[in-house]
Amino acid sequence: MQILRWVFKVLLIIFSCFHMLSESLPQTTSETQTPPVCSDADRAALLSFKARISNDTTDILSSWTGSDCCDGGWEGVECNPATGRVTSLQLQRPDRDASIYMKGTLSPSLGSLRFLEVMAISGMKHIRGPIPESFSNLTHLIQLILEDNSLEGNIPSGLGHLSLLQGLSLSGNRLRGQVPSSLGNLRNLQLLNLARNFLSGPIPPTFKNFQALQSLDLSFNMLSGLLPDSLGQFKNLTFIDLSNNLLSGQMPISLFNLANLLDLSLSNNQLTGQIPDQIGALKSLTSLQLSANRFTGHIPGSISRLQSLWSLNLSRNGLSDPLPDTLGRGIHSLLSIDLSYNNLSLGTVPDWIRSRQLRAVHLAGCKLRGTLPSFPKPDSLNSIDLSDNYFTGGFSNFFANLTSLEKLKLSNNQLKSDLSEIRLQEGLSSIDLHSNQLTGSLSRILNNKTSNFLEVIDVSGNQITGGIPEFGEGLNLKVLNLASNRIASHIPSSISNLIELERLDVSRNQITGTVPTGLGMLLKLQWLDLSINGLTGGIPNSLLGIEDLRHANFRANRLCGEIPQGRPYNIFPAAAYAHNMCLCGKPLPPCRGKKQGKMGQ
Ligand SMILES: *[C@@H]1O[C@H](CO)[C@@H](O)[C@H](O)[C@H]1NC(C)=O
Ligand SMILES: *[C@@H]1O[C@H](CO)[C@@H](O)[C@H](O)[C@H]1NC(C)=O
Ligand SMILES: *[C@@H]1O[C@H](CO)[C@@H](O)[C@H](O)[C@H]1NC(C)=O
Ligand SMILES: *[C@@H]1O[C@H](CO)[C@@H](O)[C@H](O)[C@H]1NC(C)=O
Ligand SMILES: *[C@@H]1O[C@H](CO)[C@@H](O)[C@H](O)[C@H]1NC(C)=O
Ligand SMILES: *[C@@H]1O[C@H](CO)[C@@H](O)[C@H](O)[C@H]1NC(C)=O
Ligand SMILES: *[C@@H]1O[C@H](CO)[C@@H](O)[C@H](O)[C@H]1NC(C)=O
Repeated sequence: MQILRWVFKVLLIIFSCFHMLSESLPQTTSETQTPPVCSDADRAALLSFKARISNDTTDILSSWTGSDCCDGGWEGVECNPATGRVTSLQLQRPDRDASIYMKGTLSPSLGSLRFLEVMAISGMKHIRGPIPESFSNLTHLIQLILEDNSLEGNIPSGLGHLSLLQGLSLSGNRLRGQVPSSLGNLRNLQLLNLARNFLSGPIPPTFKNFQALQSLDLSFNMLSGLLPDSLGQFKNLTFIDLSNNLLSGQMPISLFNLANLLDLSLSNNQLTGQIPDQIGALKSLTSLQLSANRFTGHIPGSISRLQSLWSLNLSRNGLSDPLPDTLGRGIHSLLSIDLSYNNLSLGTVPDWIRSRQLRAVHLAGCKLRGTLPSFPKPDSLNSIDLSDNYFTGGFSNFFANLTSLEKLKLSNNQLKSDLSEIRLQEGLSSIDLHSNQLTGSLSRILNNKTSNFLEVIDVSGNQITGGIPEFGEGLNLKVLNLASNRIASHIPSSISNLIELERLDVSRNQITGTVPTGLGMLLKLQWLDLSINGLTGGIPNSLLGIEDLRHANFRANRLCGEIPQGRPYNIFPAAAYAHNMCLCGKPLPPCRGKKQGKMGQ
């Protein structure tokens, strides 16, 4: 879906370039001697906008100097050469660099750029305040793009006056309140994107007027009520994302009239009822995302008629057995399937899933039994989630030929194996094996052959023995969870090499020795749990250097001495330090003497 959004953006940009090109053609062919000169009114409006931007690290506005805003020197400004009126204002920063932004508010004076056809001010991150009411005067606007700023307040209902508007995107702001029903007047709208705001209330019934709509994204808001029946009338709709709202009721049958629909995402809502069998009529569908709703009944067999479907995600609903047997014969383009956490008792991974050339197979919590499946075409598999099942036995050949595997979850099974049976593929970035019956030593999987792609490893809740291995330089581990095993020995000082680490949990083991001073070099650490071990000595003051730490637990060790007296250590709950030998200082009672305070440092 991300890709599709990109495609739309690119199309928009191409559209507006084309538009500008055709605008500028008369300039080159024109016989007139006088060069275009910016209208005084428009220049004044632009300068008022500039004046309300208190900080511009994009450096765009520093080019807005001189009296002729149409001479091409004013970055982002385009004019009609015949009239000197500003027709396009495009200030866009799609990159993620947090240090590049504009800070300030949108000046209402922009509403007097009467001949503006394209306004795109996006990715500025820190433009706050409301969308000015005066924008309702911009009746020539064809595109209004105000994405990824920090705009606040309601969507002005006056935007419904912009009857030529074809593209409206206000996504990624902090807009609140209801979606104004006046937006339904925008009969030429092809793209509407209000995603990632705090909008509430229903999808207005006036939306039935959007006959030309091609793309509708209202995801990540708090919209409630029913899915409008009228959606089914917009024959040109190719993209619908209403995910992550509070929408309820059933899927309207009319929706299945949309023969051009490519993407349908309704995940993370409160939709109920069955998935209607008519869904097979969405002939163009490539991606169907219905996860995390309250759908019940069977998976309709008609899904097998969706010839272009490559992503099917029905996870986290209440769908029941049996799977329709037509699925094995259809959906030949499928690449990704997620049926996790329904009311399915599959027993074994269905052959048609096992033997396809898939990229993602997620069948968590599907009551699978027996030994781990083998995949006859393993080299395309990129993500496997078979957690929360009843798999027994070891890994034997499971890892053989999974050459593209990046993410693997097999947690909460009954897998019995020595860690030496595990082959971490070079490209693996995340492996979760928690709560099984794994034995053996960590050095079998964490050693100087461990790939620098590995970011997440969770082997907690097993029966792993031995020590914590030494860590070389160049590892990119972000999460290391070794909790609840039988790991003994000490924490190696080479842990300071894990400079990307965000989460370290070695709790509930038999670790002895001291807390290494080098832990303080893990500047990205947010979560540290050393509790319920046999650690001695003090808590080193070097830990004060970790500014992002949000959670730490030192409980039930044999630590002694003064707790580092600075945030956040002195404001963590006292329970985080309880059951040690003689820790003292805030949040515990003060140390008795300076001498004891220095103990163990
Ligand atoms: C703009 O922001 C930068 C970076 O935060 C800061 O160094 C600079 O002082 C700010 N300028 C103004 C005028 O506020
Ligand atoms: C729209 O423009 C007219 C005429 O310039 C002006 O009187 C009116 O206040 C403007 N509307 C808004 C909402 O700014
Ligand atoms: C749907 O798209 C087609 C082809 O782009 C176009 O000709 C037609 O006018 C559109 N329909 C509506 C209702 O806008
Ligand atoms: C299915 O959707 C859920 C979100 O509801 C997501 O967490 C999960 O990763 C998706 N599955 C796949 C295979 O993409
Ligand atoms: C779960 O599926 C079984 C049949 O496989 C069915 O009898 C039961 O009612 C379903 N439970 C729910 C909550 O849908
Ligand atoms: C892995 O691939 C090789 C070469 O294609 C093949 O000989 C071997 O049998 C495969 N192993 C498994 C367990 O599938
Ligand atoms: C890798 O580790 C092993 C055992 O700790 C050691 O013998 C070997 O020299 C190391 N190899 C490299 C290239 O560091």
